[in-house]
Amino acid sequence: MKNWKILMISGVAAAMLLSGCGEKKSENAPQETPAKTEKAAPAPAPVAETPAKPEAKAPAPAEAAAPAVEAVKEAAAPVKEEAAKQAEAVRKSVETEAKKATEGVEAAAAAAKKSVDAAALFTKCAGCHGMKGEKHALGQSNVIGGQSKAELVKKIEGYKNGTYGGAMKGLMAGQVKSLTPEEIDALADYISKL
Ligand code: HEC
Repeated sequence: MKNWKILMISGVAAAMLLSGCGEKKSENAPQETPAKTEKAAPAPAPVAETPAKPEAKAPAPAEAAAPAVEAVKEAAAPVKEEAAKQAEAVRKSVETEAKKATEGVEAAAAAAKKSVDAAALFTKCAGCHGMKGEKHALGQSNVIGGQSKAELVKKIEGYKNGTYGGAMKGLMAGQVKSLTPEEIDALADYISKL
């Protein structure tokens, strides 16, 4: 029995030696391993490449962006200047328009005041001429309501400087002597529209 076992072992060992299997296997083994590693290497390589790509891309846009940012800054400089100029122009025109509007409102207020004054001034005339200027004052005068503004201005100024009037022109002169040219104008305008 012992002999058979020894024979078997030595026979196997001899076969191994002869065939060089052990060596070949050990040669093949390391060859296969690098082969596998080579094969395996490309496999993880893309995996490694995938995260590597964004990493490689990430700095690329940043690097590429740097000159772009500079270009934008350079391009923005005159735009900023132009915008500032335009803003200044707009501010000035707004100021001018606001000033004009204020002046317009003041002028309108002044005109409104004038017309109010005319109505107030006429109250003392209405006692003789009627609220609508429809009466013959003291049974003497012509009806003044509805006469043209130019006619009324001429007559009132005529009473004031003595160049117009009838028998009772002295009375009318006393009524209009203190009127200013502006008041005469406003009154004549007011009476012509009664
Ligand atoms: C006390 C009364 C009286 C008062 C107040 C009076 N008037 Fe007269 N008005 C007369 C008389 C009278 C005459 C005519 C005078 C004449 O003989 O020319 C007249 C004439 C006029 C005429 C000329 C009419 C025409 O066509 O010949 C005008 C215009 C006139 N008055 C305007 C006025 C105005 C404006 C006022 C107010 C500021 C006024 N009067 C206040 C009495 C009055």
